[in-house]
Amino acid sequence: YQYEIYLDGLRGVVPTLPMEFGELERRAEAALPPSIWSYVAGGAGDERTQRANVEAFGRYGLMPRMMVGAARRDLSVELFGHRLASPLFMAPVGVIGLCAQDGHGDLATARAAARTGVPMVASTLTVDPMEDVAAEFGDTPGFFQLYTPTDRALAESLVKRAEAAGYKGIVVTLDTWVTGWRPRDLSTANFPQLRGHCLANYTSDPRFRELTPSDDPQAVVGSWVGIFGNPLTWDDLPWLRSLTDLPLILKGVCHPEDVRRARDGGVDGIYCSTHGGRQANGGLAALDALPGVVEAADGMPVLFDSGIRSGADVVKALALGATAVGVGRPYAYGLAVGGEDGIVHVLRSLLAEADLTMAVDGYPTLADLTPESLVTLPRG
Ligand code: FNR
Repeated sequence: YQYEIYLDGLRGVVPTLPMEFGELERRAEAALPPSIWSYVAGGAGDERTQRANVEAFGRYGLMPRMMVGAARRDLSVELFGHRLASPLFMAPVGVIGLCAQDGHGDLATARAAARTGVPMVASTLTVDPMEDVAAEFGDTPGFFQLYTPTDRALAESLVKRAEAAGYKGIVVTLDTWVTGWRPRDLSTANFPQLRGHCLANYTSDPRFRELTPSDDPQAVVGSWVGIFGNPLTWDDLPWLRSLTDLPLILKGVCHPEDVRRARDGGVDGIYCSTHGGRQANGGLAALDALPGVVEAADGMPVLFDSGIRSGADVVKALALGATAVGVGRPYAYGLAVGGEDGIVHVLRSLLAEADLTMAVDGYPTLADLTPESLVTLPRG
C-alpha cells in the first residue's frame, strides 16, 4: 500500500484522510456527537491503564539489522487454519454501528474487512444482527465475540447462530461481565451500550423473544440488562467448550496461570488484552502482560490488543510473541472520519507502516521477529 500512497504523493494528490494518529483522533472527535466520542475515546477511572497501554510501546526500540535481504517481506500468518495476508485484525467494538453517519458501522466494518483481508471480530453488541454483518465479509474470515448472558440457552442460541452465519471462531470476553467505572460516561449520564441501539443480536434471537415477549423498548432493555453479564468461573469452561467445535478463544486474559487453566480446558487461543483500558484501571499495560502470556500459552495462538497506534507498535507486539494483533479505537476513528473508506485507510496505513518498519529494520518475515529484536529503552 505504501507504493500507492507514495505514488499519489508524487502526483501531488494530498490525502484527504489523516496520515497520523493524533490528527485521526482530532478529526474523529470533531466528526462524532460528543456522547459517542466520549464513550469510544474514554476509559476506566483516571484512564491510567489506557495511557499505560499506549506508553508501553515507547519503552521498546527495534534493533535494526542491515544487509539481510529485506527487499521482500512476508507478513502472512496462519490463524486457526486460515491463511491471512497479515497478522492484523479488528477487535470487537460494541456500538461501532453508531460511529457511522448512517448508524450501520458494523456493516461498513465488515465491508472494510472484505476489502483489506483484515478480519473483523464482531461484537455481541452490534447494531445490525450478526447474520447481516457476516454477509458482508466476502472471503475474509470473521469471528464472533460473545458476551455470555446469564441465560445459558440464550448463549447457546447466539453461538449456534454465529456458526450458521459462517463465523470462523468464537471469542468469549471474560473481562466485561460488568461495566468498569467510566467517569466520562457517568458524568454525562451517557451509556450508549445500555440504550438499546446495540441489542439487535438479542432482539432477533428466538430465545430472547421467549424471555422477553414484549415489544416495549424499556422492557427489552430492562430484560437485557438483567441477562447481560455472566461472571463466569473456571467451572464453566467445560460448558463453554461444549458450545462449539469452532476455535474457542478467551479474551481479556493477562495472567499466565489463567492461560494455563484455559489451555488445560481445551481452548484454541488466548486473547491478551486490557480492553483498551476501559475496564480495570490498575495501570497494567497489556503489552507488559504479553511475554508471560506467550510463554504460558506454549505454542497456542496468542491474540493481542490494547494501545496499538502505529505499524511500529504492531511489529513490537509481534516481536514479543503475539500471533495476531488487534486494533479497537483506531478503526473506530477511521469509520467516524471517513466511513468504510476511512477504516480501509487506517488499516492500510497500519499495514504499510508495519511493512516498511520491517523493511528498514531488516526483518523480512514474522519468524525473524523475536524478543531479541527489541531493546528496552531507558526511561526518559
Ligand atoms: C471495546 N472493546 C470491546 N471488547 C469486547 O470484547 N466487546 C465489545 O463489545 C467491546 N466494545 C468496545 C467498545 C469501544 C468503543 C471500544 C473502544 C472498545 C474492547 C476492544 O475489543 C479492544 O480490546 C480495545 O479497543 C483495544 O484497545 P485500543 O486498540 O482501543 O487501544
